Amino acid sequence: MDKFVINGGKKLYGKIPISGAKNAAVAIIPAVVLSDEPCEIDNLPKIKDVNVILSILRHMGADVTYVGDDQSRVIIDPRGIISHKVTCNKLVGDMRASYYLLGALLGKFGKAEVPFPGGCSFCERPIDLHLKAFETLGAECRIDISKIILDSEKLSGSDISFDVVSVGATMNAMLAAVKVPGRTTIEKAAKEPHVVDLANFLNSMGANVKGAGTDVIKIRGVERLHGCSYSIIPDQIEAGTYMAAVAATGGNVLIENVIPEHLNSIISRLRATGTVVEVHDDSVRVIREGELGCCKFQTAPHPGFPTDMQPQFVAMLSFASGRSRATESVWESRFSYIPQLQMMGADIFYSGNKAIIYGRQNLTGTGVKALDLRAGAAMVIAGLAAKGTTEISDIKYIERGYEKLVQKLQDVGADIKRVVCKEDTSNDDDDYS
Ligand code: EPZ
Repeated sequence: MDKFVINGGKKLYGKIPISGAKNAAVAIIPAVVLSDEPCEIDNLPKIKDVNVILSILRHMGADVTYVGDDQSRVIIDPRGIISHKVTCNKLVGDMRASYYLLGALLGKFGKAEVPFPGGCSFCERPIDLHLKAFETLGAECRIDISKIILDSEKLSGSDISFDVVSVGATMNAMLAAVKVPGRTTIEKAAKEPHVVDLANFLNSMGANVKGAGTDVIKIRGVERLHGCSYSIIPDQIEAGTYMAAVAATGGNVLIENVIPEHLNSIISRLRATGTVVEVHDDSVRVIREGELGCCKFQTAPHPGFPTDMQPQFVAMLSFASGRSRATESVWESRFSYIPQLQMMGADIFYSGNKAIIYGRQNLTGTGVKALDLRAGAAMVIAGLAAKGTTEISDIKYIERGYEKLVQKLQDVGADIKRVVCKEDTSNDDDDYS
């Protein structure tokens, strides 16, 4: 299996540019299905999940053309998509966000047939709230052995109210509702930056979505959506991951191309550890010179501390002086990676949704696994700050969501390399071109 090999203990100095946001891109690309004309999307992250969703759209009949050499800009012409059925089961099963095709196809055709989504499986990931939103708009939802089927006589604007804040259900409800006649309100909506980015993209295509970023989103259905040119926001979690890495290793790094307001909760917790964070217009500088202190944090929907930063922070706090506490409030369980950190010598007690991290400075590199995307990022941070050599296997999970991670870290002085192992068959199916 391909691996990352890290010789840890090096402080990081320099600049890291942040790529476009994965969790915005994987919703905005399916949203193009709703348009009657081609759309140009810029600042796309070059990651596996984006390749997969673009391949699914191609498979559905869309024309996908990269503009320029670096694959960060693409023109998607959705006019060849003439069926509400998605049949590429393997590709859809490769990622969670393929569930956005349900909302997009329901909004376009009034019906949808989509295989079950896959993706990181750190715990049970239900989609009942998505289906509830579609039903509220007037769709009938059926679950077949291998696919989800949505049908409707006529959809109409309605009041959707969630009992749990869900990013995916909020974005899927928006996709389904933008072309539905009448007014739809989404109450207890998620407020994550990518929810706002999707609303902005839909509005660029001519939709009428108001209130994204607040608890209540109001949508006036429009008859048609037109083409547009749109640039995706920077990735809040990629930025937070490198910020945590600098805090763990020590050093001084400018994290470039970010929206600092998206990082407020991460900055606040980093400052609690004594790490210096300077905020500029579109960059943040992270400086850690003295000892890393401990802190307490609890994950919560935006503007709270992101659950997608929880494993990276636990890894970082393993190197702090003193006792830290992490409480996971978004997912039922998201601590399954902790035994991997313990193999490196981390002293962490965890039970239910709480982890107590007894920080120490002497973790030691060993062979560990990336159990999922953010768990994998946590192992990279641990490897960078630990003594000795860490070998991380199952890096395909990390590569789903981090563009050029090895190069970006090498550029700030990390001793990390990607080792290709000949016998690796994990990427054999990855011809997404
Ligand atoms: C999105 O997943 C992200 N994925 C996740 O990031 C992230 O962890 C999560 O939001 C929370 O921020 C994408 O955007 C592709 P949710 P999503 O619906 O939308 C419960 C990463 O690492 N729930 O907001 O699937 C659920 O059990 C990934 O980039 C229901 O009960 O998450 C959870 O407790 C991992 N029923 C809570 O809501 C539902 O129908 C929040 O989940 C849906 C969710």
